[in-house]
Amino acid sequence: MWKPSERLMETIRHYASFPATGVSLRQMVQFGDRPSTGTLFRASQFLSEELPIRLAHRVQDLGELPDGLSEMPSIKKVQDWYAQSFEEIITLPRPSLTQEVRNRLLRPGRMNGGSPSKILSEATQNPSIREGQYRSSTTANGTINGNGKPPAVAAAGRRYFVPADGNVDWPPELNDYNQRFSRTLQQIKRRHDSVVTTVAQGILEWKRERQRMQIDSTIQSFLDRFYMSRIGIRMLIGQHIALTEQTHVKHPNYVGIICTKTNVRDIALEAIENARFVCEDYYGLFEAPKVQLVCKDDLNFMYVPGHLSHMLFETLKNSLRAVVEQHGADRDQFPVTKVIVAEGKEDITIKITDEGGGIPRSAIPLVWTYMYTTVEQTPSLDPDFDKSDFKAPMAGFGYGLPISRLYARYFGGDLKLISMEGYGTDVYLHLNRLSSSSEPLQ
Ligand SMILES: Nc1ncnc2c1ncn2[C@@H]1O[C@H](COP(=O)(O)OP(=O)(O)OP(=O)(O)O)[C@@H](O)[C@H]1O
Ligand SMILES: [Mg+2]
Repeated sequence: MWKPSERLMETIRHYASFPATGVSLRQMVQFGDRPSTGTLFRASQFLSEELPIRLAHRVQDLGELPDGLSEMPSIKKVQDWYAQSFEEIITLPRPSLTQEVRNRLLRPGRMNGGSPSKILSEATQNPSIREGQYRSSTTANGTINGNGKPPAVAAAGRRYFVPADGNVDWPPELNDYNQRFSRTLQQIKRRHDSVVTTVAQGILEWKRERQRMQIDSTIQSFLDRFYMSRIGIRMLIGQHIALTEQTHVKHPNYVGIICTKTNVRDIALEAIENARFVCEDYYGLFEAPKVQLVCKDDLNFMYVPGHLSHMLFETLKNSLRAVVEQHGADRDQFPVTKVIVAEGKEDITIKITDEGGGIPRSAIPLVWTYMYTTVEQTPSLDPDFDKSDFKAPMAGFGYGLPISRLYARYFGGDLKLISMEGYGTDVYLHLNRLSSSSEPLQ
C-alpha cells in the first residue's frame, strides 16, 4: 500500500500554509467556453497549484482531529489518498517550452472567441456563510518558510484561469501535456469516489472504539469543512476534465459540467420520479405518495444539474419517508407533497411542503449534524456499494440534509427547514441566480 514519505509530508505542510483561491460559477463559465489549447494549458497551470493547496489542507486537517479520530484506519486511508493525489499532481512532468511560446501564453487572449479580452468578473463574498466559516484552522498566513518549492505565484495575486490567445497554433507538447493532466485528474477523481463513505466509516470506528454516542462541534465543523472542500475540488476537477473533452465535441448549453440553461422543471420531475421509485421499493408500496410540482416550463438558469438533482432527491426522499411513516405504509392514499418553484431576480427558491408530521423543535439543530437519523438501524456502510454518494437507500445515514445544504451553499444558495410538529415540514431550497459568489473556502 502507498504511504507518504516524510519529505512529501513536509512539502504538504508547506502548501497547506497557503490559502485556497475561491472561484465563482460565473468565472468558470466565462473562462470555459471552447478553450484553446493555450487556455487549457493555463487552466492546468492554475489547477496544478490550486489543487495541491486544497489537498494539502485536507491532509493536515485529517491528521489533526481530536480525541484519537485521526488514528482510525479509515481516516488514515483517506488521508493517504489525499497525500497520494497531491504527489501525483506536483510530480507531473511539465513540458519544456520555448521562450516564444511562453510569451504567447502570457499574452492576454480573447474571451469566447472574438470579443476583446476582458478580465474575469470578480467573485463576491458568498452570501450564505459567515466569513471564514469553512476555513481550516491551519497556519494559513502564506509565508514561504523555505521548505520545499513554494507555489509559483503568491496566492493573493492568483486569479482563476486567464484565457490565452486562441487563434494560433500551439506546439504539440502543450496538447500532450493537457491530455496527460486531464488523465491524471481522472485517476484522482476515481480514487476519491468513496471518500464520503470511508470517512463515515472512520467516524463509526471511532464511535465504537471510544464509546462515543454523538459527534461534538469540533468534529461537526471538521466534516462540514471537509465535505465542502471536497465539493469544490470535485467541481474544479470535473470541470477541467469536461472542458478538455469538449475541445472536440460540445453540447451547446454546456460549459464543462455547468449547464447554462438548467431546466428546473425537468430536473425536479426526474428527482420526483426517482424518489418515488425508491420509496415504493423500500416500503413495498404499490404506489408512492404523490408529489405535485408547480413550476414554469421555461425556467432555466445557470447551474450544475447534478448538484440540483442531488438536493431535490434527498429532500424529497425525506418528505416521502415522513409521509409514509406518519400515515402508515398500509394506507392506499397519502397527503400530497408539494414542490413549488418561485423565480426571483436574486434567487430561484424551491419549497418542498409535506404533511409528514414535522420534526420536534428540539431536534431541528440535530438534523444538520452528520449521522443524525431517526432510522433505527443504519444500513451497512460498505464503501463499495455505491461509489459516489449515499444515494441508493431511502434513509439512514443522516447525511442527506447536511450534505445537501453544503451543495446549496457552495454556489451561494442555502437550505432551510421549518417544521410544524404534528403536521408537516417545509424545506426551502434557495439557489442563487447571480452566480457571482465565490466558493466558500477561504
Ligand atoms: N421532511 C421531513 N419530515 C420529517 N422529518 C424529517 C424530514 N426531513 C428530515 N427529517 C428528519 O431528519 C433526519 C435527518 O435527515 P437526513 O436526510 O439528513 O438523514 P436520513 O434521511 O436519516 O438519512 P440519509 O443520509 O439516508 O438521508 C431524518 O432521519 C428525519 O428524522
Ligand atoms: Mg435523508
